[in-house]
Amino acid sequence: MDLKLKDKVALVTGTGSQIGYGKAIALTLAEEGCDIISADIDFEGAKKTATAVETLGRKALAVKVDVTERAEVDDMVQQALAKFGKIDILVNNAGASIQKPFMEMTKADWDFNINVNLYGQMNVAQAVLTHMIPRHYGRIINVSGGQGFPTISIYGAAKAGVVAFSQALAREVTHLGVIVNVVTPGLAKTGLTVNAPPEFLDDLIQHSSILKRFCTPEDMAPVVAFLASDVCSYMVGQCVNLGGS
Ligand SMILES: NC(=O)c1ccc[n+]([C@@H]2O[C@H](COP(=O)([O-])OP(=O)(O)OC[C@H]3O[C@@H](n4cnc5c(N)ncnc54)[C@H](O)[C@@H]3O)[C@@H](O)[C@H]2O)c1
Repeated sequence: MDLKLKDKVALVTGTGSQIGYGKAIALTLAEEGCDIISADIDFEGAKKTATAVETLGRKALAVKVDVTERAEVDDMVQQALAKFGKIDILVNNAGASIQKPFMEMTKADWDFNINVNLYGQMNVAQAVLTHMIPRHYGRIINVSGGQGFPTISIYGAAKAGVVAFSQALAREVTHLGVIVNVVTPGLAKTGLTVNAPPEFLDDLIQHSSILKRFCTPEDMAPVVAFLASDVCSYMVGQCVNLGGS
């Protein structure tokens, strides 16, 4: 199936991790013909992913951005428009988590989890929509995440917020040409989970996934590519559960 992504421009956040979802998403979109803005707080990682995109024959721009800082986000969008002239697709993938039992968390831990995972996506969505709405075209894919698991209560609350935010946003901007959907990927062995005890992760997989295996960036990337495409024309404001369940 031709996803008709050739010559689209995609901004993917959280591409710095070389073992994460963001890099796989950027490379899959590039394989489908997209040029990529590779954005991350980890600039060295973002540059590596941009180089990998160029190896596939597409153009890339690496940007250092902290998605919690609106001025940096606005600057990223300006850099992207200066290089490519448009942004067709946003994949709001950057995320991070402080994992602790709720009773051990401080207000600073709450703020970190909510700032990165919820405010970060709101910042990038609003900055990109400022450009997408006048063009009457856009695809936004927000990345949600695990909810209801121990040690990630506030991260999960932020990710539940991402779903509610996206559903409402879809109702506000679909008639303006922008289609918004969400993906909740399953538990994966990425930078986010690299420091979690393996037995804890294995236990979570046994209880949360019918498939009884970890999700991988390669499971995630084609789903995002579909949602980013014009083939996805009648699916709006949905949360795709890629949790192996
Ligand atoms: N790994 C999992 O089990 C899992 C499960 C469900 C959802 N997710 C979500 O998938 C997305 C990708 O995470 P991942 O699992 O690939 O982890 P990862 O740590 O491998 O990648 C996350 C990337 O986000 C970047 N990032 C963090 N804070 C940032 C900030 N303030 N500004 C810009 N970039 C920032 C990191 O530098 C990193 O490159 C996240 O939204 C995460 O919450 C992950």
